[in-house]
Amino acid sequence: MKNVRNVIAVSGGKGGVGKSVIASTLALLLAKKHKIGLFDLDFTSPSTDLILGIKNARPIEDKGIIPPKVHGLEYMSIVYYSGDQPAPLRGADVSNALIELLAITKWENLDYLILDMPPGISDATLDLI
Ligand SMILES: Nc1ncnc2c1ncn2[C@@H]1O[C@H](COP(=O)(O)OP(=O)(O)O)[C@@H](O)[C@H]1O
Ligand SMILES: [Mg+2]
Repeated sequence: MKNVRNVIAVSGGKGGVGKSVIASTLALLLAKKHKIGLFDLDFTSPSTDLILGIKNARPIEDKGIIPPKVHGLEYMSIVYYSGDQPAPLRGADVSNALIELLAITKWENLDYLILDMPPGISDATLDLI
């Protein structure tokens, strides 16, 4: 995270309220003028890959994880690991998985990292904050 100047976490009290649409469109608009990363951390239902039409992108592993560039932004998602299934994790495992992904992802110099957050105000949301 040391290369990330600002973080914008797009959060909301529940699912289906527009978090992923806002996170995706915000990332695309800001990418016109700034260096942007988008990280889909909604382990219950990652969907920014569908919104942005991302199919075959994969991260590269090299002493950490290097996100692929898609539509002019660095794109990272738990969908690379969970596919289109919700991640079957509970309790501290959820927070640990999300925090580990944040810790091992190597961003280039970013003006803004936009996070599509898990729904609600759960342990996962609070631990990410
Ligand atoms: N501002 C909006 N007006 C109308 N429909 C919207 C708006 N934002 C999102 N939607 C629709 O609502 C549904 C849920 O949006 P999504 O961004 O996936 O929510 P979340 O990520 O909070 O679960 C989607 O079908 C999306 O197209
Ligand atoms: Mg969503």
